[in-house]
Amino acid sequence: MIVDLRSDTVTRPTPGMRAAIAAAAVGDDVFGEDATMNALEARVAAMLGKEAGLFTPTGTMANQIAIRCLTEPGDEVILEADAHPFHYEAGAAAVISGVTLRLLQGARGVLDPELLRQAVRPPNVHHAPARLFCVENTANRGGGTVIPAAHSARLCAVAKEAGLSCHLDGARIWNAAAATAAQSPAGAGATRIQEELSAHVAPFDTVNVCFSKGLGAPVGSMLVGPASMMARARRFRKMLGGGMRQVGILAAACDYALDHHLPLIGADHQRAHALWIGLRDAGWNVEDAPESNMVYVRSPDAPTLTARLESRGVRCLALGHDRIRLVTHHEVDDAGVAAALEAFGAERAA
Ligand SMILES: Cc1ncc(COP(=O)(O)O)c(C=O)c1O
Repeated sequence: MIVDLRSDTVTRPTPGMRAAIAAAAVGDDVFGEDATMNALEARVAAMLGKEAGLFTPTGTMANQIAIRCLTEPGDEVILEADAHPFHYEAGAAAVISGVTLRLLQGARGVLDPELLRQAVRPPNVHHAPARLFCVENTANRGGGTVIPAAHSARLCAVAKEAGLSCHLDGARIWNAAAATAAQSPAGAGATRIQEELSAHVAPFDTVNVCFSKGLGAPVGSMLVGPASMMARARRFRKMLGGGMRQVGILAAACDYALDHHLPLIGADHQRAHALWIGLRDAGWNVEDAPESNMVYVRSPDAPTLTARLESRGVRCLALGHDRIRLVTHHEVDDAGVAAALEAFGAERAA
């Protein structure tokens, strides 16, 4: 048995999802004729309380289109230091939008609103004008941290007071919503998750959500926001080569994921917690308790340890030389957690 904990992007479509893909009604989406995609864009925009949605093949493209829509060349974009567009989007913001990224150090991927307030410089001919503020929720490199909706509201209030637009990289907003719903006395049913989703995204002008992470679809993200902005975003998507044709087959997988996989995310979080407890109790140098589906472990020579774990059937991701990430998803069950703990145990004993 291979247990793949490197990322929640490694999942493969289930038989049910494949059946939904096969049955999808399709049309040419560049002509606006793919009924399944049109319905998905309307569905997700409504779920998130925004006017319109635009499907993109990747979260990277959705983030970059948002940055392009909300800035002019020469502008400054403010982000937390671990943000995805800085670390993992291949310098795209510099090329596509001509902007500079200004990084502010947060704690576990979460910024202090006061730090943001102090960082925005008054207009001055010397400065790149700060135009856009981005938040990532959950914060991936931060540890899968869940940013409470009230904290996002405080951050965006500071940004808006300073005249900045606000974009949410909500690649894993589903995890944030499932986590905060589970904390509330009313529980984590579909209605509560829906309410939490709306609360998390409300302060932002635009939001990127991904279907290909914890939701387990093979492809796809969506940018949501005001209808006029999404019309402009559609043109930028075309410019980037992201105008696709019979995308109903992708939309059907995303619909299926929302119906069948969103309710499973809470279980991913419980398994991440079980993994964390097992590793901690076995003496591993774990980071803070997981708030969603990610567990981070500190270990000298992380690449060697991950190679050894792989030989024991457990795949983890080395991030740098001394940090390892383990991510739960719907292909990791309780037996997978037990197998991972066994492999780590064997390494400790070796
Ligand atoms: C927080 C975050 N944002 C954006 C992305 C980009 O998504 P994609 O890989 O679909 O481009 C990722 C990918 O893992 C991510 O973790």
